[in-house]
Amino acid sequence: MISFALSVFVGFIVFGEEFPFSDIFHKISKSNYTLWTNRTAIKVRSRMDCASRCLITNRCRAFTFEETTSMCTLGFCSQSNSSARSQSVDLYQIQRKKCNTYPGFSSKSYGSTIACVWQSTERLNFTMARSDCAAKGASLFTVNTFEKLQIAGLLPGSYLIGLNDNETEKTFVFEVDNSILDESLKQQLFASGQPDDLYSDEDCVVYVDYFRGLNDISCSRNEIYVCEQFCFIP
Ligand SMILES: *[C@@H]1O[C@H](CO)[C@@H](O)[C@H](O)[C@H]1NC(C)=O
Ligand SMILES: *[C@@H]1O[C@H](CO)[C@@H](O)[C@H](O)[C@H]1NC(C)=O
Ligand SMILES: *[C@@H]1O[C@H](CO)[C@@H](O)[C@H](O)[C@H]1NC(C)=O
Ligand SMILES: *[C@@H]1O[C@H](CO)[C@@H](O)[C@H](O)[C@H]1NC(C)=O
Ligand SMILES: *[C@@H]1O[C@H](CO)[C@@H](O)[C@H](O)[C@H]1NC(C)=O
Repeated sequence: MISFALSVFVGFIVFGEEFPFSDIFHKISKSNYTLWTNRTAIKVRSRMDCASRCLITNRCRAFTFEETTSMCTLGFCSQSNSSARSQSVDLYQIQRKKCNTYPGFSSKSYGSTIACVWQSTERLNFTMARSDCAAKGASLFTVNTFEKLQIAGLLPGSYLIGLNDNETEKTFVFEVDNSILDESLKQQLFASGQPDDLYSDEDCVVYVDYFRGLNDISCSRNEIYVCEQFCFIP
């Protein structure tokens, strides 16, 4: 008993700060990964404090912690980034799950881009669709690159995605991280002549298979929708 207590004590000295979350968060050891985040760093008490904050924050599945400054950044996921150099921060991520861990989700790919998606059979309006995706631990499909637009085309019909300009007319915001769709990408992703905000009532967005592009529609319309999981293993 005494020797057990002693070895725990010695272990604590040798390895420094205890991190009881190592079965939940897995340390990303490779360089060339950065945190996908929309937040700024905050000063915290410890690595454990940073992990606890992540666990109670909606959609936080990864964080960085810088030992020397005690700065903590909460984020969505780690993403490979060839321009990222070896960093002084430690990057942690919740253990990734396989795409098929979630019933009905499957991975679709275009080139090296992969998405883990699920398509509804029921039609719901934007608000209801968004909460149904959230209940699945997902968000409405993020079509924010040319590659994701090609993946969108692999799913049948027309359906709601996670993009809207409800807050500020003409400023389209992605639901997943509140990022803004820039003007040149807007022209690439939307069908020609769209978005037109017809009757000043079109703030939500659907992918339309017929146009092979996006179109704005009224947020109160009931539509088929697609949810997407992030932080998965293909
Ligand atoms: C990180 O990316 C650079 C530039 O692409 C590459 O030279 C380096 O080998 C990469 N490092 C790792 C660990 O993958
Ligand atoms: C990649 O890393 C660079 C340098 O750290 C950073 O400026 C850039 O925002 C990162 N890109 C992404 C997509 O995370
Ligand atoms: C649009 O914004 C208004 C006011 O901020 C809010 O009440 C409404 O719920 C929002 N609708 C959607 C579909 O997000
Ligand atoms: C970051 O994204 C989350 C999820 O969409 C959102 O709730 C939060 O307001 C965003 N934070 C900022 C600073 O944009
Ligand atoms: C969306 O549908 C729900 C349930 O039918 C309804 O209560 C809500 O008012 C609708 N929202 C919009 C913006 O039409």
